[in-house]
Amino acid sequence: MSDHKITAMVTGASAGLGAQYCRQLAERCEVIIAVARRGERLAELARELHGQVEVHAVVADLTTIEGVARAMEALRQQGPVDYLVNNAGFSTAGEFADQVIDSQYDMVSLHINATLALCRTAIPFMAELGGGYIINVASIAAFLPGGGMAVYGASKAFLNHFSTALQAEVAASGIKVQSLCPGHTRTEFHDTAALSGFDKSTVPNELWMEADAVVTASLQALATEQVVVVGERSRPVCRKGLQQQLDAMEL
Ligand SMILES: NC(=O)c1ccc[n+]([C@@H]2O[C@H](COP(=O)([O-])OP(=O)(O)OC[C@H]3O[C@@H](n4cnc5c(N)ncnc54)[C@H](OP(=O)(O)O)[C@@H]3O)[C@@H](O)[C@H]2O)c1
Repeated sequence: MSDHKITAMVTGASAGLGAQYCRQLAERCEVIIAVARRGERLAELARELHGQVEVHAVVADLTTIEGVARAMEALRQQGPVDYLVNNAGFSTAGEFADQVIDSQYDMVSLHINATLALCRTAIPFMAELGGGYIINVASIAAFLPGGGMAVYGASKAFLNHFSTALQAEVAASGIKVQSLCPGHTRTEFHDTAALSGFDKSTVPNELWMEADAVVTASLQALATEQVVVVGERSRPVCRKGLQQQLDAMEL
């Protein structure tokens, strides 16, 4: 593999944390495989990073089998990757019993199934390379089971457990696995239609973090820490918010 180019795959690269991972990994990589549904955003990112890094856009809906297959194929064709960042994600807000079940299945497919498929595809190639880095973007919500985001928190807790166990399994191959658990971060995450029930003003201004700082903390901790919590101060606020929702439900 002497002609190997240092390569990263980042899912959810069209916005927020994913776009920031691409910008910061451009300093470490020669090729970035950027995955998301919005191709025009990926093209914009490729123009921004032109001259710094080669960007291969993969337009894929990772809640679908076809979309995951397209990303897996890109891993095989344009990899092996040195960095795999499973970042694409979304949440709904509100009680589970009020949600359209397909939206909850989509969340599980995106956070869990797509992450499993991409890890499973990437690891043998990474091992052959002699090592690599996997970042699974979870959330501080992984530690806070409570009303309002039941499937979101549960799927992120899965990522924490899975990442920790996977690290134990692949350590001998030189692969590092990180589960990143951010607190409230300014991205498009809270502006999606699915999260329209979430009132951003309930989170004090000083708790909001910028995406570039969160990604810097993740990459700095890559070699040393497995479960990285960025924005620890968000934890009591999340807990209070969830408690208020539970109280409102009169449980
Ligand atoms: N922001 C926060 O406060 C916060 C806190 C904790 C954890 N997180 C986690 O951080 C990760 C990134 O979120 P963000 O804050 O950067 O939100 P964001 O700005 O809304 O970005 C989400 C990214 O995921 C992609 N995505 C969503 N659904 C997808 C699908 N079906 N197929 C492929 N890509 C999809 C979006 O791209 P397209 O729409 O173009 O497909 C977008 O690039 C998520 O896993 C989220 O759970 C965020």
